[in-house]
Amino acid sequence: MNIALAIDTAAPRLQLALLHADGRTDQSVDDITTGHAELIFARIAALLARNDLVYADLDRIVVTTGPGSFTGLRIGLSAARGIALARQIPVIGVPSLLAISLAAPKNSPVSVLLDARRGEAYVQNFDAPGHPADAARLCPMEIARANLPNGAIIIESPFVDIVRLAQFGAKADPAAFAPVASYVRHADAKPQNAARIARVRLMMKLWMAPAGLHIEPGQTRDAADLAKLHKQGFYRGWSSDEFAGFLAEATTPTYVACDAKRRIAGFAMFRLSGDEAELLTIAVDPKWRGKKVATALLHAAFTDLMMSPVKTMFLEVDELNEPALALYRREGFEKVGSRKGYYPKADGSAATALVMSRNLG
Ligand SMILES: CC(C)(COP(=O)(O)OP(=O)(O)OC[C@H]1O[C@@H](n2cnc3c(N)ncnc32)[C@H](O)[C@@H]1OP(=O)(O)O)[C@@H](O)C(=O)NCCC(=O)NCCS
Repeated sequence: MNIALAIDTAAPRLQLALLHADGRTDQSVDDITTGHAELIFARIAALLARNDLVYADLDRIVVTTGPGSFTGLRIGLSAARGIALARQIPVIGVPSLLAISLAAPKNSPVSVLLDARRGEAYVQNFDAPGHPADAARLCPMEIARANLPNGAIIIESPFVDIVRLAQFGAKADPAAFAPVASYVRHADAKPQNAARIARVRLMMKLWMAPAGLHIEPGQTRDAADLAKLHKQGFYRGWSSDEFAGFLAEATTPTYVACDAKRRIAGFAMFRLSGDEAELLTIAVDPKWRGKKVATALLHAAFTDLMMSPVKTMFLEVDELNEPALALYRREGFEKVGSRKGYYPKADGSAATALVMSRNLG
């Protein structure tokens, strides 16, 4: 076992824990709303001293990465990264909602729901403590509460169990837990690279949909469900592997309409290229058709892509596909061309595709 020092300054508390190689632990907790920066190194020094350790004995640092107090996170991360840099040891950055989930009993499903103020909540579900079932996200408090899974333990306290954090971090793979702040609501955060931008954007995406559904970005684990839905809607279905490939790509954003248990009722997938987006496919489970699910999926994409360089959206549709044509016309798409013999049919013939487009913004 590694000798680990855990630091949490994301909430109004300065928490430290030491984990010895033999599993013994010690902790230091100060309930303070400000002043973390002034106290942190004195507290670390005291904790090390009373455990007969010095900085050189530490094998790794574990730190929470947020969401949480902007200033608190910076202090904790800077201290952790500074010590790690000086000692040439790894820093494990543990997202705060995951860190909080560790307080739940072993193997129990748990949801962490934190008040993010302004009527919003940070929320994330876990199959078991430390095992995310979905991505952390910011959404209206009432949606967050309404979508909490049945039977999960709900944790609403922002305070991490610092000893469990040290135990988790001592075993975690540094490559999977980068010590980078995840503010979720990133008012004054400066994105540092494309991966981080993508992660923060993913966490912020959630849209309302009819009939108790909501819309969120598709994830690679949805591949099999999407392939099944696609087969129900199209003569030539795409395989689960093809969907997994698309879902892993930032250039093919996918939106899924699902319920609180993430059962998927429909999805829409786009391909981005410069200032154009193409609707690659959209399909709604036959049980859910006619309930405005496709409409909500398109609206989510319009809203989301408004923040991107995309100016025009294109699509191709079988000229005989009345429901789809009616949907697209209603959503402002107009015919800009056609492609004869484009869609192969079961009877060996091929149908004409209409090319339609719509401006965004
Ligand atoms: C096309 C499809 C995605 C529509 O999904 P949906 O969730 O049922 O659509 P919505 O409930 O949002 O309907 C919105 C509009 O589409 C049109 N529409 C939807 N179903 C329709 C139908 N069966 N007949 C005629 N128009 C229809 C209507 O204009 C409707 O608005 P309205 O309810 O105010 O009349 C769905 O039928 C489907 O999955 N089809 C199989 C796959 C497919 O063809 N995809 C499109 C490929 S280009």
